[in-house]
Amino acid sequence: MKYLFRNDYSFGAHPKVLTALAETSMEGNAGYGEDGYCKRCADLIRGLCNCPQADVQFLIGGTQTNFTAIAAFLRPWEGVIAADSSHINGHEVGAVEATGHKILPVPTGPDGKITPEQIAPILERHKDPHLVKPRLVEIADATESGMVYTKAELTALSQFCREHDLLLFLDGARLGSALASPASDLTLPDLAELTDAFYIGEGRAHRRLLHRRHQERRSHGRGAGYRQSRSPARLLPHQKAAGRSAGQGLAAGRPV
Ligand SMILES: Cc1ncc(COP(=O)(O)O)c(C=O)c1O
Repeated sequence: MKYLFRNDYSFGAHPKVLTALAETSMEGNAGYGEDGYCKRCADLIRGLCNCPQADVQFLIGGTQTNFTAIAAFLRPWEGVIAADSSHINGHEVGAVEATGHKILPVPTGPDGKITPEQIAPILERHKDPHLVKPRLVEIADATESGMVYTKAELTALSQFCREHDLLLFLDGARLGSALASPASDLTLPDLAELTDAFYIGEGRAHRRLLHRRHQERRSHGRGAGYRQSRSPARLLPHQKAAGRSAGQGLAAGRPV
């Protein structure tokens, strides 16, 4: 078999995924995440993260997750600190900023990792009331250059964010690779403890499959069905005892 490492959607889905889909596709299920499979998946994620109070949401892709989460977490005048090399500052071509939240890029080194020392000057500069208020730090694990955060690095960042009233959001589009790396000593419970929210990218192969289904439906004139075929995607706002959850914040009509 020839392996392509160009990206994570050069292949379709694992045979077990295809089998499970074939076995269940004619089952009648409620949509919009209300089915038993989504509930079971959310429980499994809560268990693996050792975070029974976590609010688990399912979204279809990384870009949608980033801008949905960031728009939910922030007030209109608040901005996002992110690595200059980060996906949300480049490849997402303004998706986050289209929601009104400016990206404040941190010039990072070649590893693409953000440190507290790099954030401090941005906070200092943005004390000017004419400038956007930094309120959230977005990091990716692994970074654009494929480097992973250590527990010590994430702990330092988390402490700094808490001391400076900044939310810490981890883009986990590549989280599977990061946690499987021998260079990483982080676990899912660590992420639940150290970040305010993170997501688990389940691999774009699955979405590629959904995309195909979407195209097939469109070609049969049934494009609207796509919204009902939700992927088991990924957003895990880590709920603090004080109730800083995205869900609670939104439900109360205020940002977290
Ligand atoms: C770190 C990171 N975040 C977000 C995304 C966006 O994911 P999607 O292609 O599902 O919109 C990608 C895609 O490459 C990514 O690498």
